[in-house]
Amino acid sequence: MTEAELYTLYKGIYLPSALHPPESLKYYEDFTFRPDDILIATYPKSGTTWMQEIVPLIMSGGDPASVESLPNWDRVPWLEEQRALILNLEQRPSPRMFSTHYRYNMLPPSFFKVKPKVIYITRNPKDVFTSAFHYYDTTSFLVKPGPQNEFLHKFLDGNVMFGSWFDHVKSWLNAEDKEHIMYISYEELIMDLKDSVARIAKFLGKSLEAEVVEKIAERCLFKNMRQNNMSNYSLVPAQFMDQSKSKFLRKGIAGDWKNQLTEAEAEHFDAVYKDKMKDVTYKFVWD
Ligand code: A3P
Repeated sequence: MTEAELYTLYKGIYLPSALHPPESLKYYEDFTFRPDDILIATYPKSGTTWMQEIVPLIMSGGDPASVESLPNWDRVPWLEEQRALILNLEQRPSPRMFSTHYRYNMLPPSFFKVKPKVIYITRNPKDVFTSAFHYYDTTSFLVKPGPQNEFLHKFLDGNVMFGSWFDHVKSWLNAEDKEHIMYISYEELIMDLKDSVARIAKFLGKSLEAEVVEKIAERCLFKNMRQNNMSNYSLVPAQFMDQSKSKFLRKGIAGDWKNQLTEAEAEHFDAVYKDKMKDVTYKFVWD
């Protein structure tokens, strides 16, 4: 199926129509944030699910039930997704935890007024591409990636769900008020998960004993998260997500692009990156 058949063009970017009917987009436009809400913001395939495990564990002081009683999509729901309509989010006790794949400038007016805490995760875009290439092949609601080189061009041109990686990252880096935003990379989580958990807890104003931080980090290791049926997408029927093709929690490493991109593709990627990111002064761990 094609983009025209599977996607909705919303504010100039593609969204999979099956997950984002017009009522959902409207719901988010009118959504009222609370000052103590926590929002995980990501470009898809950057570590959203990982943070949906880390944040509830931090906020519950390390209680395993916080990630074992609800699937990640209800535990830290995406505000732009259809399920947000039926979860009674207005009735949830504070602090509420949400996810979003929106760019900064797509958020509703209440966000800019209330300024809830945001954790924005970045990931080396070549790894984002690699993860997406495998993921797109598994789902019925995304356009099949086709040949790798073709998908690479779509990705670099932003003709994929949630648009261009470059525009997404730049929108969040250029946020007007950065006081309430924590920027952290997938690579930092990989390099030192314990330290990352401690930093995230501090940002969220949660003081945790060292051993609790250690327990949370242990639980959030790739091999352990893969066992959590509330986080590994095993509850999703195969007709929507066929994990026999590729697991959602696929490899969980930094630098897998080296196994995926040809030398010519990597060079092309770097050239596009250099051009699109030329005005960005932020220092990424992968630069
Ligand atoms: P890979 O496909 O490279 O393995 P998102 O949740 O934003 O869609 O991102 C999915 C990516 O995050 C996948 O990358 C997935 O394996 C990775 N991921 C999820 N949990 C992880 C963890 N605990 N450790 C490392 N990577 C994790």
